[in-house]
Amino acid sequence: MIDWSEEWKKHREESSWNRWLKEKAISNEQYWDCYEFGDRYEEYNRIAGYPGTILGRMLLHLDPSSTVLDIGAGPGAYTIPLAKVASKVTAVEPSGGQIARLMRRADQEGLKNIDVINKRWQDIDRSELETYTIVNAAYCFQMTDIKEDLQKMLDVTGKALFLVSLADHGFYDVYQKVFGEQRSDPDYIYLYNCLYQMGYPANIEIFTRRYLLPLQMQLDILKETYDLTFKAMEVLLDHLSSTGRLEDEDGKDFVKRKHKDAMILYHKD
Ligand SMILES: C[S@@+](CC[C@H](N)C(=O)[O-])C[C@H]1O[C@@H](n2cnc3c(N)ncnc32)[C@H](O)[C@@H]1O
Repeated sequence: MIDWSEEWKKHREESSWNRWLKEKAISNEQYWDCYEFGDRYEEYNRIAGYPGTILGRMLLHLDPSSTVLDIGAGPGAYTIPLAKVASKVTAVEPSGGQIARLMRRADQEGLKNIDVINKRWQDIDRSELETYTIVNAAYCFQMTDIKEDLQKMLDVTGKALFLVSLADHGFYDVYQKVFGEQRSDPDYIYLYNCLYQMGYPANIEIFTRRYLLPLQMQLDILKETYDLTFKAMEVLLDHLSSTGRLEDEDGKDFVKRKHKDAMILYHKD
């Protein structure tokens, strides 16, 4: 039988993201602290309509007496709207740059009910945590021993645990065609199967977001992690055009993107 937590470990190690971090000799936190995408992440999410419907699903579980634990909070795509409803949100975030972005937004919104734990999830001791009405971990799975990390999440969940992860970024063919890369990171199915093997069969919903990303922004994002040579640029534009993904609106170029997020939900009761 496949051991999904072992598969996760292997795939995590070999993932294109981890290989890139190793090549650059930086940690995940340093990426969010220093790279330009960190500053553009909120703008990107706004254009891409993230978190969209998933946020609505979480809000259904909250009332003014609820508490939330937001693991890998980043600049607060969930923390900020959830803090407007819940009595307290505890954000777990290892990157100082991300915490600064999050707290800037909290100040702008006049929110005083956000606590921050400046650590990686795997480095937090259970005694530092409480029990929270809902626990959310979205796109923050730089974790190796996933079984232990999921168990710790379940241990502090009062009602519902949400895991949000990639189902499809719709760009696999582009990475293959332009950079010759079979780009892959362990996706939602590993998390779902790990939970299942741990004895926690969860619900799952897949949400599709379609959006037009300014071509320049798409190029800037690719340039951060790839050597976008003149030749590669030519192949990229050719490929986007031949697959009908380039669009001109009022003289500006856009890339048609389609992204699928998976929301895994485990009800504790
Ligand atoms: C792509 S952002 C996601 C932010 C937010 N959860 C969202 O969905 O918009 C990833 C964030 O997760 C954090 N992260 C990654 N691995 C983590 C870990 N092991 N523990 C806690 N946070 C982590 C990163 O520092 C980064 O801020």
